[in-house]
Amino acid sequence: MRIAVVPGSFDPVTLGHLDVIGRAAKLFDRLHVLVTHNPAKSALLDVDQRVRLVRDALAEAGIEGVEVDSWSEGLLVDYCRRVDAEAIVKGLRSATDAAYETPMALVNRDLAGVETLFLVAQPATSHVSSSLVRQVAALGGDVSPYVPRVVAAALQPEGPARG
Ligand code: PNS
Repeated sequence: MRIAVVPGSFDPVTLGHLDVIGRAAKLFDRLHVLVTHNPAKSALLDVDQRVRLVRDALAEAGIEGVEVDSWSEGLLVDYCRRVDAEAIVKGLRSATDAAYETPMALVNRDLAGVETLFLVAQPATSHVSSSLVRQVAALGGDVSPYVPRVVAAALQPEGPARG
């Protein structure tokens, strides 16, 4: 049984994340999407809302058999050990992403022997980031080209309540 984790802040989940999750789900027997709290980033949505939107986005995209969890109790590799995951999967959009991700991948391998696999982002989503989506949403712009429909609906000022 090959098990992997796709971790991230997912604040909010984007079409780029969804693409990576869908591709990773085909490579592993079991996949966990892990929503983490990143204290270095100021959050738009709370962790429970992010988890709910990831679940709804997976359902909307017809991606099945993926566990969605949250984690704030320690290292990412502690979660990997808990669920018997041998790999972390991340998307790579650019050389900047590679420079940011490489030290984390090496530390996670040092800490627990967990490998990190990088899936190259599709050109259609390689400019999409949660931080840009947060900024566009905060200033009243249309985020629908970048996020699943359920997320766009949740971020619209006149949309359904986020709570
Ligand atoms: O979507 P993000 O914010 O770029 O995701 C970053 C994330 C969640 C992968 C990173 O913050 C992380 O791994 N957090 C867990 C804490 C940890 O294990 N740190 C030490 C190893 S780098």
